[in-house]
Amino acid sequence: MTMTMTNLHDHVGAEVAGVNLSHPVDDTSFADIEQAFYEKSVLVFRGQDLSPDAHIGFSRRFGPLEVHILHQYQLDGHPEVLVLSNKTDAEGKAIGLVDAGRYWHTDVSFTETPSMGSFLYAVEIPPKGGDTLFASQFAAYDALPKEWKSRLGGLKALHGLNKTTAPKFTDAQLALVKGVAHPLIRTHPKTGRRALYGGVFVDKILDVSDTESDDILSFLRKHWAREDFVYRHRWQVGDLVMWDNRSILHHATPFDGQYIRHMHRTTVEGEKPV
Ligand code: OGA
Ligand code: MN
Repeated sequence: MTMTMTNLHDHVGAEVAGVNLSHPVDDTSFADIEQAFYEKSVLVFRGQDLSPDAHIGFSRRFGPLEVHILHQYQLDGHPEVLVLSNKTDAEGKAIGLVDAGRYWHTDVSFTETPSMGSFLYAVEIPPKGGDTLFASQFAAYDALPKEWKSRLGGLKALHGLNKTTAPKFTDAQLALVKGVAHPLIRTHPKTGRRALYGGVFVDKILDVSDTESDDILSFLRKHWAREDFVYRHRWQVGDLVMWDNRSILHHATPFDGQYIRHMHRTTVEGEKPV
């Protein structure tokens, strides 16, 4: 099989074909996949048949895996796999996270070292709805007017959990989240490119007046997910989609709850944004 890559959008995403992820990928192909991932921010592999072990094995080549704080939704016997699902068990209790984030976010940016990459595999998919949107934050940075680039350079934002984002966490889990300052512009450690780093967990901009913070945030909230930065992924069963949280904001979209959407996710540890 020859591996090919096809761009999915001007700024973000490539589809990788000719790779069977149920077997270990050879080192040369892996190096190409890794490079493309850091440059394109989102990679899509269609038609995969991934056991939890194969999913974990592939993800782990990018770095150590995280075990999500929502431990009630770990896959039995595979704590590294988080279940996203609207299925329920015999008692009617959710077996997975039903809503993984219907707002623009980058995963767990309210922690000191937010996740690097998330690897989401589609097991069951509704006939319509439930797409995932990905906005390139390389493109969002590049498109900033010059005066905004200099205005934002050096500023930090406070990321935390707030009224929009907290409801799915328990009080004990919330108590662990203190809020953390991250630069608004970060440099990608592998490519050296600058990316805007914001999203729904940003509560305010630090070391400026409240008025200035509001002013900056109202600009950024319109800017960071501008339509021309966005790739919409329409899921098929067997898709593995991986995204680089350092250069992407993403957004889950709703679907009709009479259908099942069932996915497995692994998550690779990240570093402190700089
Ligand atoms: C996630 C997430 C989007 C989706 O798993 O972090 O945001 O569409 N998922 O399920
Ligand atoms: Mn997410």
